[in-house]
Amino acid sequence: MNLETILNKKDVLTVPGFSAKDPFNSSNITMTGNGYLGYRGTFPDWSADKYAGCTVTDTFDLADGKWKELCNVPNALFFLGELDGQALVIESENCSAFSHSLNYRYGVTSGSGRWKSDRGEDLEISWERYASYSDLHLIPQKINIKAHSDCSLHFKAGIDSHIWSLNGNHFSLAQYDQYSDKLVFQGKTTEKELPVIVAHRLIGPEGEILSGEDGLFRQISLDLKKGEETTIVMYMVVYSGNDVDDPLSAAIQSIDRAVSKGYNTLWDEHKKNWEHKWEQSFIAIEGDDLSQKLLQYNMYHNIISTPAHTDSHPIGARGLSCQAYQGSAFWDQEIYNLPMFLYTNPSVAKNILIYRYKTLAGAKRKAERLGFGGAFYAWISGDTGDELCPDYFFKDVITGRKIRNHFNDWQIHISPDISYTIIKYFEVTGDEDFIRDYGAEMLLEIALFLYSRVHHNLFKDRYEIHKVLGPDEYHENADNNTFTNTQAKFALEKTLEIVQRLKEKDPDVLSELQQKTGVNDKKLNQMKEIAGKMYIPEPDEKNGLIEQFDGYFQLEDIKPAELKARLIDEQEYWGWPNGIAYETQVTKQADVVQMFVLHDFPVDIMKANYLYYEARTQHRSSLSPGVHAIIAAQIGIEDQAYDYFKRSCSVDIVNSHPPTSGGTFIGGIHTAACGIAWQIAVSGFAGMKSGEGSLSFNPHLPEKWQTLTFSMKYRGCTLKIVIRDKTMKVECQNEPDQPFILKWRDQEKVLKEKGEISFG
Ligand code: BGC
Repeated sequence: MNLETILNKKDVLTVPGFSAKDPFNSSNITMTGNGYLGYRGTFPDWSADKYAGCTVTDTFDLADGKWKELCNVPNALFFLGELDGQALVIESENCSAFSHSLNYRYGVTSGSGRWKSDRGEDLEISWERYASYSDLHLIPQKINIKAHSDCSLHFKAGIDSHIWSLNGNHFSLAQYDQYSDKLVFQGKTTEKELPVIVAHRLIGPEGEILSGEDGLFRQISLDLKKGEETTIVMYMVVYSGNDVDDPLSAAIQSIDRAVSKGYNTLWDEHKKNWEHKWEQSFIAIEGDDLSQKLLQYNMYHNIISTPAHTDSHPIGARGLSCQAYQGSAFWDQEIYNLPMFLYTNPSVAKNILIYRYKTLAGAKRKAERLGFGGAFYAWISGDTGDELCPDYFFKDVITGRKIRNHFNDWQIHISPDISYTIIKYFEVTGDEDFIRDYGAEMLLEIALFLYSRVHHNLFKDRYEIHKVLGPDEYHENADNNTFTNTQAKFALEKTLEIVQRLKEKDPDVLSELQQKTGVNDKKLNQMKEIAGKMYIPEPDEKNGLIEQFDGYFQLEDIKPAELKARLIDEQEYWGWPNGIAYETQVTKQADVVQMFVLHDFPVDIMKANYLYYEARTQHRSSLSPGVHAIIAAQIGIEDQAYDYFKRSCSVDIVNSHPPTSGGTFIGGIHTAACGIAWQIAVSGFAGMKSGEGSLSFNPHLPEKWQTLTFSMKYRGCTLKIVIRDKTMKVECQNEPDQPFILKWRDQEKVLKEKGEISFG
């Protein structure tokens, strides 16, 4: 697939060829969504067999006794026409004037097709739909029908009962009723009997009600004259008992509101909402259209995956594109998705962190269950914060036996990753209230977990962390993973700084927190000792290399392409315990290189390690190319950075990651890769780093990028940054909460007030 062709129009992604040949991916990349629900970009006549799906936040349900996940609800925008006894489905050989696309500026999926029946009846249908941002429960869909000859069209439109579900039937009760002019699905989820309502209303010609196993529809016949056009508008609304007490009334009212406003007004409201979002996260690349489009497409997916409207829901690793990865959050949420919001719309970043606060109890339960103190956050976190990651995630495709991976109990960096992000949030926003009300407690609980998890090496008098997985998931059971130890040390040190701050400013709050968490002064002192003596592998004196974990350099040194030849089956899992990579230096994804994104290191050290590890990284995780892009840019290998940028931003467009791995379905939009796109541009190419009270830039723009302009927020002030050639202009649009230092390469200026500052 050629990226230029797919993205040849401004703001539009066009699916090449007939979508039905690859219904999963074509409807993946064209999906619409709004952080409350995601609706795949399927044609109106596609059903569960072609992955039609509307995934809804806050509907976690365990139906098969094993995997809890979000629910997909029945599709209330189903439309199937029939001309001359022939169904108007996209595989029809008579279909021409085909199109399938997504406008990613406003989140609109659209498509069209023209059919000629054997007797020459000739009809064209075009449609569009979007998940509304002015009413998050609503999806309007408009269908235009144009007769190119006299035709008799019969169609049914309504609620399709066939639901694509990955792990069991989530509706133990499913009832379809008519409520005056509306058709309604009333369901109850299998585990918690959560009421879920899906309502439908059609505005257009009248018809008979058709009800049966396939769902509840209106059946309509139209006699059209040549040249005649007609429009049908359909509204779908979803509510659950977690949204409101009476979801049925809410759904009906929402439909009625939509009908009285009408399609055009709803569209204007929705569009305005998106325009505001794009203004907040404005970014423009002059000189390279493709990069601009890729960046914006990925930012679109980061936005629609994020339940920005609430502080209670996670960002799923596949967003709301389907149920894969259980609709739940991984470390991806803080390290990949959140930074774009932190610098463009910090209230969303705050919501995401409050979600972690609200799931603290689950993290504490997990720590206790495993014999530790404090908060060990779930590797896969849903509504309660209890661990959703199953013990057996993949299976050995050769023997069929399940593999006991330890993503859930050994991948401990998730907890200090959250501390890291809390600290960054505070650094960038200066939001003391957040620290007092939520942040400090999480930091203390995570510190307590680390305190209980470290190992004191008496012989060397240092603290070590054993039996973990770092970001590279192939090497489980590793000791002293440098990334993990570094994050743990940082988390402990920064927590102690926050404690000190509270002691000076809010001693009562601190003593309450100490009581609540059980972190008394003695423990604080011990934490200080642990942070001070935490073992962090140093760069080798001769070659600057940092070992990923104890013994890594002793493993067989082989490159991914060569190693691949040892596979018996293409589908084999490469990692622990018996995978081909486990006893080699081949890593699944960035690990030491990932650390450089989060912590400052000298350029020569970054470079030595980047070159070493890059050659040994398989990039089997979609998280990996973006990290390589950032670091390659920071060390000045711009052309490689540019290639990794494109690779990271097109993971879904070119469908480079198969939907199934080791027998488990993990397809869908790779939201971490989407989230990191903004970071590649700003932290990578613009070289932006925030420190305590300072914001620095060290740009390395790709050759084609003449100018990079973007808006960002720092310390309450909105900045417009323009980087061109060897210059940088910063327009500060309002006074910052506190003065801060702006650095550009080796120049420094203090930013105190509204105005413009130039460098270079
Ligand atoms: C990666 C993890 C990531 C997860 C969800 C895995 O393949 O190795 O780092 O958190 O996918 O995106």
